[in-house]
Amino acid sequence: MTSIQTVGVAGAGTMGAGIATVAARAGFKTIVFDTRQDALDRARGQTEAFLTKSEQKGKLPPGAAAATLDRWKSTTELSSLAQCDIVIEAVFEDLAVKHRLFQELGRVCPDTTIFASNTSTISITEIAGGSGRPDRFVGMHFCLPAQLMKLTEMSPGLETSTETFQRAWAFAESMGQKPVATQDTPGFILNYFLIPFNNDAIRLVEQGVAEPGDIDVAIKTALGYPMGPLELLDLVGMDTQKLLCEAMYGLTHESRAACPPLVRRMIAANRLGKKTGKGFHIYGDTKMFGA
Ligand SMILES: NC(=O)c1ccc[n+]([C@@H]2O[C@H](COP(=O)([O-])OP(=O)(O)OC[C@H]3O[C@@H](n4cnc5c(N)ncnc54)[C@H](O)[C@@H]3O)[C@@H](O)[C@H]2O)c1
Repeated sequence: MTSIQTVGVAGAGTMGAGIATVAARAGFKTIVFDTRQDALDRARGQTEAFLTKSEQKGKLPPGAAAATLDRWKSTTELSSLAQCDIVIEAVFEDLAVKHRLFQELGRVCPDTTIFASNTSTISITEIAGGSGRPDRFVGMHFCLPAQLMKLTEMSPGLETSTETFQRAWAFAESMGQKPVATQDTPGFILNYFLIPFNNDAIRLVEQGVAEPGDIDVAIKTALGYPMGPLELLDLVGMDTQKLLCEAMYGLTHESRAACPPLVRRMIAANRLGKKTGKGFHIYGDTKMFGA
């Protein structure tokens, strides 16, 4: 059983929008906080389109889209998160930004509120260390696209209490997610494989070995993946991939984790992926994946 009723999501970008969709769709009152109103509007608009399409396809019962949106509140006021039983952070992959946010949250949220981070590469223990409540802090790593992917990697920091971990685990299950336990290590389970793997695909493009479309078809056809690595990277965003590589390489010095030069050139050209309409592939719209 989970004692959680109201969920806060801090950061309404690619991941925050998906995580908020999962929470609100599962019946939780969900308060989505971002410093930027345009990010909040975009997240809600994308979610509305995604849920409406899900309902039309029969994947959600009639009325579920409207009910989910009724449970979703957008805000630029951090103090609105005061009523949350858990706050899941999905802001920029930057330790100082995350520390600042959690310090502010610590001032507005009750002592019982669990803080969770969706970080892909930063140590949970390090983020928790600057949160003021390391015992009530946990890693909850959702996968992209969160509104479709069931996996949530759960990692305790060194000081996380058993009770916090168990409450967060039960909460993940109550949202219909499939939690797995992993230590607080760079990339957890999934990105330990995925970051070097995706970089290998980028280097094949850099070296002119194959076109992005052919690489994606090869991987999907042979390995049965639902998305090719370059399609996935377009969804992740080159800006995020660069941060992921820098964090992973900085911690492991694994050469395959180093950011390929092509990623930096694509960022300079604003070819960030689906969110700018152009990455390794060209997109006609910037709707949420699955809509
Ligand atoms: N993109 C992925 O594939 C992926 C997958 C799993 C986990 N993650 C992790 O999720 C987190 C977010 O990644 P993303 O890709 O959604 O980033 P993003 O750039 O799409 O969104 C980040 C959002 O955070 C907001 N923000 C920044 N500082 C803030 C603050 N102090 N308070 C409130 N909002 C703030 C920004 O306005 C933006 O809307 C990162 O820690 C990343 O490592 C990303």
